[in-house]
Amino acid sequence: MEMALVISASLVGLTLVLLSFPEHGSLNRVLDGTSGTVYLGSALVNEALHRATELTDAAYAHTRERVKKSWSESSLRSIDLLAQFKQIETSTRTQIQAAELLDNTVELIREMVYTNTMKQPNPYELLGEQDMENLLQVSGCATDVHTPTCQTDCLSERYRSITGECNNRQHPKWGAANIPYSRWLPPEYEDVWGMPRGWDPKHKYNNFSLPPVRLVSQEVLFTHNSNISEDSTLSHMLVDWGQWIDHDLVLTPQSPSTVTFKTGADCTHTCSRNTPCFPIQIPLSDPRNGVQSCMPFFRSAPSCSPGDLPHRHREQLNAITSYIDANMVYGSSAEQALALRNQSSPFGAMAVNLQHSDQDLPLMPFLPRLRAHLDPCGPRNSTTTGALDRSQLQENITSCFQAGDSRVNEHLGLIALHTVFLREHNRLVRELHHLNPHWSPDTLYQEARKIIGAMQQILTWEHYLPRVLGERVMSRLMPPYHGYHPGVDPSIANTFATAAFRFAHVTVQPVVTRLGPGYTYNSEYPPLPLHQSLFASWRVTQEGGIDPVLRGLLLSPAKLQTPGQMMVEELTERLFQAQGGMPLDLGALNLQRGRDHGIPGYSSWRRFCELSAPNTTSELAEILGNFTLAHKFQLLYGTPHNIDVWVGAISEPALPGGRVGPLLSCLLARQFRALRDGDRFWWERKGVFSKSQKEQLRTVSLSRIICDNSHITRVPVDPFSRTERPEDMLACSHPLIPHLDLSPWKEPDTDPSCGPIPRIQSGYSILCNSVIFYQCHSGFKLVGSSSISCDPKSQQWSSSPPACHDINECEELISPCPQNLECFNTASSFICSGQFSSFYKMFNAHDYSNLEHFILRSRVLWTLCCLHRLCSDSGDWGRGHGGDDSDLLPKVKH
Ligand code: HEM
Ligand SMILES: *[C@@H]1O[C@H](CO)[C@@H](O)[C@H](O)[C@H]1NC(C)=O
Ligand SMILES: *[C@@H]1O[C@H](CO)[C@@H](O)[C@H](O)[C@H]1NC(C)=O
Ligand SMILES: *[C@@H]1O[C@H](CO)[C@@H](O)[C@H](O)[C@H]1NC(C)=O
Ligand SMILES: *[C@@H]1O[C@H](CO)[C@@H](O)[C@H](O)[C@H]1NC(C)=O
Ligand SMILES: *[C@@H]1O[C@H](CO)[C@@H](O)[C@H](O)[C@H]1NC(C)=O
Ligand SMILES: *[C@@H]1O[C@H](CO)[C@@H](O)[C@H](O)[C@H]1NC(C)=O
Repeated sequence: MEMALVISASLVGLTLVLLSFPEHGSLNRVLDGTSGTVYLGSALVNEALHRATELTDAAYAHTRERVKKSWSESSLRSIDLLAQFKQIETSTRTQIQAAELLDNTVELIREMVYTNTMKQPNPYELLGEQDMENLLQVSGCATDVHTPTCQTDCLSERYRSITGECNNRQHPKWGAANIPYSRWLPPEYEDVWGMPRGWDPKHKYNNFSLPPVRLVSQEVLFTHNSNISEDSTLSHMLVDWGQWIDHDLVLTPQSPSTVTFKTGADCTHTCSRNTPCFPIQIPLSDPRNGVQSCMPFFRSAPSCSPGDLPHRHREQLNAITSYIDANMVYGSSAEQALALRNQSSPFGAMAVNLQHSDQDLPLMPFLPRLRAHLDPCGPRNSTTTGALDRSQLQENITSCFQAGDSRVNEHLGLIALHTVFLREHNRLVRELHHLNPHWSPDTLYQEARKIIGAMQQILTWEHYLPRVLGERVMSRLMPPYHGYHPGVDPSIANTFATAAFRFAHVTVQPVVTRLGPGYTYNSEYPPLPLHQSLFASWRVTQEGGIDPVLRGLLLSPAKLQTPGQMMVEELTERLFQAQGGMPLDLGALNLQRGRDHGIPGYSSWRRFCELSAPNTTSELAEILGNFTLAHKFQLLYGTPHNIDVWVGAISEPALPGGRVGPLLSCLLARQFRALRDGDRFWWERKGVFSKSQKEQLRTVSLSRIICDNSHITRVPVDPFSRTERPEDMLACSHPLIPHLDLSPWKEPDTDPSCGPIPRIQSGYSILCNSVIFYQCHSGFKLVGSSSISCDPKSQQWSSSPPACHDINECEELISPCPQNLECFNTASSFICSGQFSSFYKMFNAHDYSNLEHFILRSRVLWTLCCLHRLCSDSGDWGRGHGGDDSDLLPKVKH
């Protein structure tokens, strides 16, 4: 996986495409300012495209240079961290680059038209349909809008896809990764194209200009760390669960460029607004004024949104699947999913850290180091770096963990939850293997993934949401499950990602509590100010593993949201400060993000939710139940209509029994309901799990999962409720912390009509809808029918089961062994044998082009082995390339 701001290959290839760009006859209308039509003609469109390609490429190249420079100076800035925080997969980046090229081209065309006609064109007259079509093709956006083909075989009906595609049969892209957010209300940008609200600070909305976001943050949000109130009934585990689930739902990528497209100016050094820079002004009254005149901010990346393009406005995209499917554990793209697995595990386990462990329990793998000496997740004080073992530095890796979501390292609580579920997966696959030894590693992986996904759904709907929304809202807006509704679009709404589900930012404590065994203070891992726990993954390996963090989350209360104590100083003044450079302000980021996405104001959303839409300060005061606060908003915004919806929504008093007000209740419930009813793989849906499996799943408890995957021995009955004293915790063996009994996952050994289910030697089988599917171990080929079923009438199997025959690689492959080496066939594999010296010289551990090819073609396990001493010197060369059953590996000869 690539880290941080590394931009992939440039768009050079496009120039070649341009040469063959068709001169479309009908488009050759001459520019003519008098008639309504201002089509430029293809020549000018081509010119714009060409220029835009140059500018876009140059911006990406500039960014690469800047990042290289700051890496080499070992100065990682907070803004780089924010980018690292949102690092993106290749498939996402490809789409973003296409969309940015398209956007930049349209922008240039607008300018050309403006220069020629001195009037701002309207979108309908700017480009002909055919022009637009061609632009889509050449930019690469057209390929992105394609509809995937969905498989319908038994096993693809059984497990979700990694990308979320094909969950909905009619709309295979609904809820998938890399699609635009849905809109519940049309965007209200500053212009028809998608300029952010407040781009021009003087621009009037409802006769008032928007206040600088940092001013709102200072006036409304800022709270001294010492001046907060504790939630009397909820734990901090509940807060962190929210962020954990957030990372199952949304990831908004930002532009890969950190310099302006037009001028190449560095966004971190300019206060001028120029795409993609949308810097946050520091007001005169701000304590930061003088130190800093702007806080850098990058616009969220545009997407290649489908639809009728001349009328298109900017849409942002969700880089991960919308569904609650544990994609933060498994990833949202096929490549990422594969990279996170231990591909040589016979159990379908996830990869774990090979350098470090948490006593006897595994940690997540590390990300590779891109540049020497730079470790964004390591200790920041160079003198403490010495504490890291030397082996780690030599291994050329960072202390950053790698998981299904790139934000895993953001803070310690998140790392702890990621680690717990990684371990739970590996625990489940081992148990499932024990019950079903005939299951393939893939089946074990998918079955465990399915259970882990169901756990996220159950813990969120049964335990998390009722506490956030309150039981009353829950029963009104989240009625009991009534089955799958294919007409419901589960895609995440833009307002949910940018505003609604960020509500919990005001419930985060300024201190990260860490506790030793017995939930007591321990000087080896003392409590930390929040900012010192951000990107501090090294503390997991150096300061006691994840147990102290989990204990802290279980025993400490959530912060209480009140109108006078909104967001703690740690987040408004010190976000990513420990990483050096200017600290950021999470409140200001949230507000600016909403404007960047063109999210309509507070009153519009109240109306959307069929709540009263305030027009005056007194109406607002009544809703907020606080005149002082309403008056503050009046001074800042002029009218309730303009209040940024995130800050307006969190200012409403909570409904009884919940932690959010009426507007947030409406927005959150609406999204979560769509996520449930529009999910074909929802855990309660008929046929997804068996009745007895469902019965077991109902008992799922986060406390049990913690007991099973940490060294913690005492846990609360309900980890989301506040526990006051360690004495109130129960032993893990207590009956109120029930075990998940996996016996309902045991496949039957006999068929009611046909008797014993035939198993095969050197192969796997799986029962799917009363058909048995067979698959051979690597290194074997299937002879016979790959599936059989029982005919209840004749009480006979449709055919005899297949057999798995060893593949003779020495005969079937073209040059299986490099030259000079002799090939010997073995069961499941083969041996290349030869002289130690010549063999060693010819190969290093990553140069197996022949063999890689062979793996791709025949998916056969390969093992390189040899005579002499080579095997013991590098005995694990085969690791990572298969090896389904270690017993079948040829034994090393000395
Ligand atoms: C220590 C605690 C947390 C920190 C430091 C943190 C930090 C951040 C940051 C830096 C962003 C990106 C802001 C932007 O550029 O727009 C963000 C986005 C977000 N946060 Fe948090 N957050 C925390 C806790 C939470 C919690 C508890 C929740 C929810 C229950 C949450 C929900 C979200 C959501 C939904 C987004 C938008 C994600 C996206 O669109 O990509 N966060 N957070
Ligand atoms: C707009 O605001 C100005 C001053 O802020 C005021 O004089 C004017 O009457 C307002 N117009 C409307 C239509 O409210
Ligand atoms: C906490 O709040 C009170 C009143 O709300 C204020 O008087 C006091 O100065 C605040 N404490 C700090 C440390 O700012
Ligand atoms: C680094 O750590 C040393 C010793 O722990 C301390 O004296 C020094 O002030 C620290 N430097 C910074 C920049 O934090
Ligand atoms: C570490 O990785 C970098 C970049 O991949 C490489 O240039 C460097 O040689 C590596 N260093 C060691 C000690 O392996
Ligand atoms: C605000 O004004 C609109 C339109 O004039 C009206 O429909 C709405 O009821 C008013 N809101 C309140 C709370 O009176
Ligand atoms: C009203 O809001 C202000 C902050 O604007 C806060 O200081 C005050 O405590 C709130 N009053 C009540 C009764 O909640």
